[in-house]
Parts: sequence; structure tokens; C-alpha cells
Amino acid sequence: MTPDEPATHPAATSGSDVSTPPIHLRPAVEADIPGLVPLLLRLKRLNEEFDPLLKVRDDADAQSRNVLRAQIADPKAVVLAAEGVGADKNKVVGFVRALVRERPFYSPEFEGVILDIYLLPLYRRRGVGEYLLHEASLALKAKGAGVVTAEFPAQNEIASRFYAKRGFRPITAIHARSL
Ligand SMILES: CC(C)(COP(=O)(O)OP(=O)(O)OC[C@H]1O[C@@H](n2cnc3c(N)ncnc32)[C@H](O)[C@@H]1OP(=O)(O)O)[C@@H](O)C(=O)NCCC(=O)NCCS
Repeated sequence: MTPDEPATHPAATSGSDVSTPPIHLRPAVEADIPGLVPLLLRLKRLNEEFDPLLKVRDDADAQSRNVLRAQIADPKAVVLAAEGVGADKNKVVGFVRALVRERPFYSPEFEGVILDIYLLPLYRRRGVGEYLLHEASLALKAKGAGVVTAEFPAQNEIASRFYAKRGFRPITAIHARSL
């Protein structure tokens, strides 16, 4: 997918799997921010359930808008919006947010970091997440990433399984304690 070229979930268009909710995946634009913010906040609140050190800030709503606005305009970032079709047409039902980050000491020199991947519950467990991951990885590669990584709470076992199925393995770990 090129940055301006929309893509549609293949299983959705083939008609081979009627149980797959169709989605239309495209780069997010500023007009998507009101639809993306509630999804980003749902994900951060889910993360909070995994660990008290991921407590969501009171100003997270405003922060979400600021971060999304900056990253949608950032050539080093990838923000893809998954739109529903049919009754959910024009509704953002999922998203991926990722960044290309330099690795000053390691090769490959640039990594594509998947910071958030989220789908509304109705759209889960039908391969749509894998499709989002695949398209985000391609977009990160196109921006120079030689490796793709994912950040998520250590306790999120669904995320671990989701990434493991696509060949991801843990390479570093962040350990934390309160001060
Ligand atoms: C993570 C997420 C995007 C996955 O999307 P999805 O469309 O449900 O995933 P897929 O259907 O492509 O599943 C791919 C694989 O992931 C794993 N997986 C996904 N959901 C799972 C679940 N509920 N339980 C166990 N494994 C699961 C399975 O290995 C699955 O393969 P399978 O269906 O052949 O068993 C989605 O579950 C989600 O939005 N979760 C909430 C947000 C979140 O936790 N994000 C990740 C951290 S940022």
C-alpha cells in the first residue's frame, strides 16, 4: 500500500468468508482524530487494567488529540485507520500507530515500533488484526525500517500470542518500579 492508496481487507472483498467484517484500511488524516481518540483511550484504559504503573492520566483525552495530530503529520510515523463498511461505513473501527526509530548501536539501524494496535471487539478474531499488522509493517519498511518491534504491556497475553503467531519474539524487556 502506498501512503495515499487505500486498501481493503482481502477476505472482505473476496466474498469467501462472510463472517469477516469488512474493513477499509487507509492512512489516517486529521479529520479522523475525533474517531481515533476514543479507540486510543480504550486501548490505554485496557493497558491500565494490566498494570497500575500504566494508570491513564486525567488529561489523556487532550494528549491523545495532540499525539495523533503530531504523528499524522510526521513522516516518520505510520497511523492507519480501519474504517468499517455497511452500517459502519465512515466509522473508524480500529487503528495502528507506529513510528520509525533510530537504533544508534544496532543493525538494522532503524526499527519500526508498533506502539498501538486496536480493533473494536466486534472486529476481532477474524484476521483483521493480522492484516493491520501486515500493512503497518509494509509502511514501516517503506520508511526505512529494517526490523519491526511491538510495545505492549507484559501481562497482555493476547497481544503476546498475536505477535508470536506472526513471528515476533521478545528481544528486550522494560522492568519498572514506582519511585
Ligand atoms: C490485538 C488485536 C488487534 C488482534 O486483532 P484480531 O483481529 O483479533 O487478531 P487476529 O484475528 O488477526 O488473530 C491473530 C492471532 O492472534 C492471536 N489472538 C488474537 N486474539 C486472541 C484471543 N482473544 N485469544 C487468544 N489468542 C488470540 C491468535 O494466535 C490468532 O490466531 P488464530 O485466530 O489463528 O488463533 C485485538 O485483539 C485487539 O484490538 N485487542 C485489544 C487491544 C490490544 O490488546 N492490543 C495489543 C497491544 S497494543
